[in-house]
Amino acid sequence: MASITIRRPDDWHLHLRDGDIMRAVLPYTAAVFGRAIVMPNLIPPVTTKETAIAYRNRILKALPPGHRFEPLMTYYLTDATDDDDLREGFEEGVFAAAKLYPAGATTNSESGVTSVERIYPILETMQKLGMPLLVHGEVVDSDVDVFDREAVFIDRVLDPLRKDLPDLRIVFEHVTTAEAVDYVQANSEGLGATITPHHLVINRNSMFRGGLRPHMYCLPVAKRENHRLALRAAATSADHRFFLGTDSAPHPSRDKESDCGCAGIFNAPTAMSCLAQIFDEENALGCLEAFTSLNGARFYGLPVNDDTVTLTKAAEPIANPDPVSIADDEIRVFAPMAPNYWVVEVDDEAQLVNDAGLTSRSATSV
Ligand code: DOR
Ligand code: ZN
Repeated sequence: MASITIRRPDDWHLHLRDGDIMRAVLPYTAAVFGRAIVMPNLIPPVTTKETAIAYRNRILKALPPGHRFEPLMTYYLTDATDDDDLREGFEEGVFAAAKLYPAGATTNSESGVTSVERIYPILETMQKLGMPLLVHGEVVDSDVDVFDREAVFIDRVLDPLRKDLPDLRIVFEHVTTAEAVDYVQANSEGLGATITPHHLVINRNSMFRGGLRPHMYCLPVAKRENHRLALRAAATSADHRFFLGTDSAPHPSRDKESDCGCAGIFNAPTAMSCLAQIFDEENALGCLEAFTSLNGARFYGLPVNDDTVTLTKAAEPIANPDPVSIADDEIRVFAPMAPNYWVVEVDDEAQLVNDAGLTSRSATSV
């Protein structure tokens, strides 16, 4: 039975939502991850220092007793972002980064930025402060094919932005294409990229296997197989510019299984187990820690976590997780359509996982 122990991972891109859904999903992340960059696309979005502090307090209050987990807050950039509020929030440690959603690109992005040039003064401030910019890298122009939106974003938005503001630290979020991998690899230290577990597992066929599968739909949408392979190679390469951002994005099943199903895959309970399986398949278990626990901290200039998790390969495939219940619905958990053998346990804290009402298997690995 193979087993590896790595430093406790962090999630550098996470949707926790608010209220009942947050209380239902937070324990799965907090059971395994030390920190998470929390996305600000609430309704209404987190557009001020004050709303971020209040949101962080609600998250901390919802933590199961004894869990050590640090939410790192992000600022939702709009055309009207207040420079002083953003600067103060970063200098006071309220914000770890600011998020750029092109208006209309994805869930709750209606208040996002209508053109990057409009917020250049804010981006110049961020460049001076060393505050990371997190970008949802898709153009929204209706003439651009949905599968090309990321590649076109590189040419039309990201590359010109990097030329204009070369010292701005940027995370190209949830990259899904070989073009994005190539772009990051060709650039310097100041550009990093997050990769989700699901984009390492599914390709665009997965959304149509035997019928329409709304629980495989997220944005950026999964691409062709060659792109998935490029992402796998990047994630398992130990290249410090690539790190884990689960983009775990819970939605009630009825919202996904509807006439106009929304984008987002909830993977927090299975993320680390999936990754162990992927890195095992790629004969790269030795590079897992870099991807999940070292590279992101390095990009953000934060210390790595002191505690560890142990991943163990079981003799038999582990069971698929049950959906997470919420008030009058449930949230489906991402499970690859292939066997997964990896069980995750947080060292020293196995009891905490159990305190949250979750067995170590169902909490962290299935
Ligand atoms: O699939 C996605 N879901 N992509 C995003 O960018 C947002 C997220 C969400 O908030 O549901
Ligand atoms: Zn996201």
